[in-house]
Amino acid sequence: MTHLNLSPVRPSDEPLPDMLRETGGASAEFAHAAPRPMPEGTPIALSAHNVGAWYGSKKAISGISMEIAKNAVTALIGPSGCGKSTYIRCFNRMHEFAPHARVEGTILLEGADVYAPGVDPARVRQRVGMVFQKPNPFPTMSVVENVAAGLRFMGVRNRAEISDRVEEALKLAALWDEVKSDLKKPGIALSGGQQQRLCIARTIAVEPEVVLMDEPCSALDPVATLKIEDLMRGLAERYTIIIVTHNMQQAARVSDYTAFLLMAGDGAGHLVEYRSTADIFTNPHDKRTEDYITGRFG
Ligand SMILES: Nc1ncnc2c1ncn2[C@@H]1O[C@H](COP(=O)(O)OP(=O)(O)OP(=O)(O)O)[C@@H](O)[C@H]1O
Ligand SMILES: [Mg+2]
Repeated sequence: MTHLNLSPVRPSDEPLPDMLRETGGASAEFAHAAPRPMPEGTPIALSAHNVGAWYGSKKAISGISMEIAKNAVTALIGPSGCGKSTYIRCFNRMHEFAPHARVEGTILLEGADVYAPGVDPARVRQRVGMVFQKPNPFPTMSVVENVAAGLRFMGVRNRAEISDRVEEALKLAALWDEVKSDLKKPGIALSGGQQQRLCIARTIAVEPEVVLMDEPCSALDPVATLKIEDLMRGLAERYTIIIVTHNMQQAARVSDYTAFLLMAGDGAGHLVEYRSTADIFTNPHDKRTEDYITGRFG
């Protein structure tokens, strides 16, 4: 992957060129989003403080501050292009795979800065796993090898341990009963919904603390979607889940907290409103949130 520029991820202390400064009065427009909608004392898994992210000279998100509750499901909603995927990829340092990518602000995982010098990005990605929009099992691997892949990468060699952890992950991903009689079949021979649960099993096999899901159901039919939604509620007992979705019913059904992002005049995505899901869907405080969740724009 030598074509990737992984270097300047962290903001330097140098002042930004004028063209990269926030413009368009975005700060005032987005000044009211409270970063902490959860009750006092709620354990926090991740904290974002004034996070911005760049692709070269393009600022994709700006000034986002949010605390993410532990063992809860947090949904991110907002129109296409407002920076939802970019934002969640900052949490596990995947943003830096993009050429000329840069992150500013601070992201704390269990209180520790994930961008601090000396932090191993691979370790961050193990602690903060990711499930993508399109199911992406490793094409040449069987069901069992797909789930075992992360464990082997982490250096687990004991066969009995791998086998136990694969079975546990497949059970947690609600896939075990459907595949247990044919664990050697290729992962890509499963249905789309099964493949997505396989990818969830692969992600949780390495025992992450947080699971990021970027539109995990957008390629699935309604039945497979409901299965994944059921699964998510169960997974939140063990993991902290952050899901990006364009499906308002899905956000309302599965999440405890919802954040609404919107692109401002400066072309970057900002946080408009972040509240408990029950509140935001029944009593949005910001007109722009209301317009979005009622389908009036976006
Ligand atoms: N690799 C990249 N290089 C340059 N710009 C990018 C890159 N990826 C995303 N962007 C830009 O960053 C902005 C935010 O994109 P992002 O994919 O995060 O939005 P999104 O909210 O996830 O959209 P969608 O709902 O369509 O998935 C967009 O303007 C997009 O064009
Ligand atoms: Mg996206």
